Amino acid sequence: MKSFLSVCVLLALALSQVKANCSGDCPDTEEVVWALSPGGGGCSVFRNKCYFDKANCTRKPPLTITTKEECQKKCADICPAIYQPTFGIYKGQTRNFGNECEKIVYTCRTGEISANCSGNCPDTEQVVWALSPGGGGCSVFRNKCYFAKANSLTITTKEKCQSLCPEICPLLYRPTTGNYRGQIREFSNDCEKNVHSCRTGESKCASESL
Ligand SMILES: *[C@@H]1O[C@H](CO)[C@@H](O)[C@H](O)[C@H]1NC(C)=O
Ligand SMILES: *[C@@H]1O[C@H](CO)[C@@H](O)[C@H](O)[C@H]1NC(C)=O
Ligand SMILES: *[C@@H]1O[C@H](CO)[C@@H](O)[C@H](O)[C@H]1NC(C)=O
Repeated sequence: MKSFLSVCVLLALALSQVKANCSGDCPDTEEVVWALSPGGGGCSVFRNKCYFDKANCTRKPPLTITTKEECQKKCADICPAIYQPTFGIYKGQTRNFGNECEKIVYTCRTGEISANCSGNCPDTEQVVWALSPGGGGCSVFRNKCYFAKANSLTITTKEKCQSLCPEICPLLYRPTTGNYRGQIREFSNDCEKNVHSCRTGESKCASESL
């Protein structure tokens, strides 16, 4: 019985190691993993298990997964007073930091992880309406992930945004197409395509913005 159990444990370990993909792209899902470096080292926070696995693939000695509470005891206390400004996007809100260390400390203390601005976004259609600063135009994003990549826009309602759709487009003929829920639509130029999205809220397939 005992040896049967340990075979099971070994098998489970073997399977969990097979699962880690060290080179694949990670999804943007926020399911935070807290991990400690060995020997009482610092706390690292990962957006999800996929990012953890990727880091753990190359880390020697490997990281150990822990609880938020245990990890947070090891957050850095102080950062160097260097001014190398950076920012992060947290649940669609931009935050500024004096330097990278301050950003890491913020994540460690709160468990909020900046969206990955170079990662791939899922293709899910959950449209986000956003305004450019200073009363600028309306931008339509396929989902929160694409929105998060575009900096310094504010989320608004569909109605408010649509009141700022452009009224007219230049009479340029530069034909283009868009794939809307499997339907290919043709437009004379990009402006007309944007206006279509702005007026209908239909987001073209896998696009950054509209
Ligand atoms: C890892 O991900 C890459 C890129 O997505 C893929 O080509 C590769 O087949 C994956 N490997 C495994 C072992 O799943
Ligand atoms: C981290 O990687 C090591 C191999 O270097 C592996 O033994 C360990 O199971 C991994 N940790 C987790 C939590 O997957
Ligand atoms: C963001 O995504 C890119 C592409 O998938 C990846 O190479 C990079 O390591 C990610 N950055 C972070 C901080 O996870």
